[in-house]
Amino acid sequence: MRATRERDGGFKAACKGPMDKIRVRGGNRLKGEIPISGAKNSALKLMAASLLTAEPVVLKNMPRLADIGGMSDLLMQFGVSMNIRRGQALGQSDTMRLHVPKIESALAPYDIVRKMRASFQVLGPLLARHGEAKISLPGGCAIGARPVDFHIQGFEAMGAKIDLEDGYVIASSKGGLKGTTFTVPRASVGATENLMTAATLAEGRTVLKNAAREPETEDLGRFLIAMGAKIVGLGTSEITIDGVDSLHGCEYSVMPDRIETGTYAIATALAGGEVELVGARAESNAALYNLLRNIGTEVTETNRGIAIHRNGVRPTSIDVTTDVFPAFPTDLQAQFMALMAVSNGISHIRETVFENRFMHVPELARMGANIRVEGDMATVTGVDKLKGAQVMATDLRASVSLVLAGLVAEGDTMVNRVYHLDRGFERLEEKLSGVGADIERLSA
Ligand code: UD1
Repeated sequence: MRATRERDGGFKAACKGPMDKIRVRGGNRLKGEIPISGAKNSALKLMAASLLTAEPVVLKNMPRLADIGGMSDLLMQFGVSMNIRRGQALGQSDTMRLHVPKIESALAPYDIVRKMRASFQVLGPLLARHGEAKISLPGGCAIGARPVDFHIQGFEAMGAKIDLEDGYVIASSKGGLKGTTFTVPRASVGATENLMTAATLAEGRTVLKNAAREPETEDLGRFLIAMGAKIVGLGTSEITIDGVDSLHGCEYSVMPDRIETGTYAIATALAGGEVELVGARAESNAALYNLLRNIGTEVTETNRGIAIHRNGVRPTSIDVTTDVFPAFPTDLQAQFMALMAVSNGISHIRETVFENRFMHVPELARMGANIRVEGDMATVTGVDKLKGAQVMATDLRASVSLVLAGLVAEGDTMVNRVYHLDRGFERLEEKLSGVGADIERLSA
């Protein structure tokens, strides 16, 4: 494996200019295959959990994304050394080796954490192995606006002492964490994962009730088991972890990204055509596939993944409510709204996971979409045609919904400030142009 000296493990260098634009010209049908990358939301947690062991960990099927670069920066602060073997062609993933014989610092500074909420996931591993950690609050906001209160309640229940000072969480567990029974409020993904990770090295048994059942949470659990952890109940709402004295190194392959998969499935339903999503798993997107079938899209399992087929007929409208897995994921809400924007009829889209997650609505409206938002509900009245426009990416999933809308809009859509896309979608423009979309990246 080739060692790299680049500070972030070379991931940021692999991503392009943050202020670049993406130009999409609508009207092309999609045909061909798209390789699905490893899941960002699993890869980040696996990287954080590698802090639990003094032995090397090898992660395969790693996506090349700006967020992975951000997590690499953070882990290097703690003394983690990293080597990367790069996949070159589209569809070839990276392999990352992480090794932290000794935790040299347990400070996660504001500058890194503010860019990515997932940074907070280092708290559990640091507390469990090192007995202390000082982590900036994500986003630099007070608890309440971007809360991590469930995480903190859980760690306190495990015997940690937690103080908040100057925007930092200062945590210690000098006597070691103790197993406990904790009910996770609202089945938070991040809190379940942080607590499950920490519990692997706690004394005795931890039972997490109302735990997240998301596939990425299960993937993290399987990775921890490969490191020697004792965990049962993954994929259910009660996870039991029996603490062990230490964990060992392992080799593990990150699950395929179900949000990237779902995004390209929706892209195909929007633009029409026939696309095979190579590496995709059917079971992790069942809610989406049921909806797509209901509005006249064919979804079939192949021996390599999932095939999506849609003729040029306008989709019928359908209502959708986001919720925790296995319900429809909030991370596909914006993309599905782009599809409903050109549907035949009226669709009600309800967002129950995050507040204020309709930032894409004004941008879709600039393209001619007819959407009214009231509280947690967006009412989308389908229009015949969207029109290309200058639009602004506001967050990761919102920005990709604008690219999807551009695939069917008349004329050119220019998506500005695409750094959000680089956080979560590997080689988006290459993957879409590979199946016939008229899309290009323009350097700022
Ligand atoms: C993860 C995913 C994100 C996805 C989300 C829901 C990663 C890196 N991110 O985010 O892409 O959209 O799951 O599937 O994996 N909450 C609190 N207090 C807490 C924790 C959460 O009030 O301590 C609230 C949040 O504000 C939100 C809800 O609970 O309204 C769900 O959040 P959570 O499941 O924790 O999402 P994340 O882990 O942040």
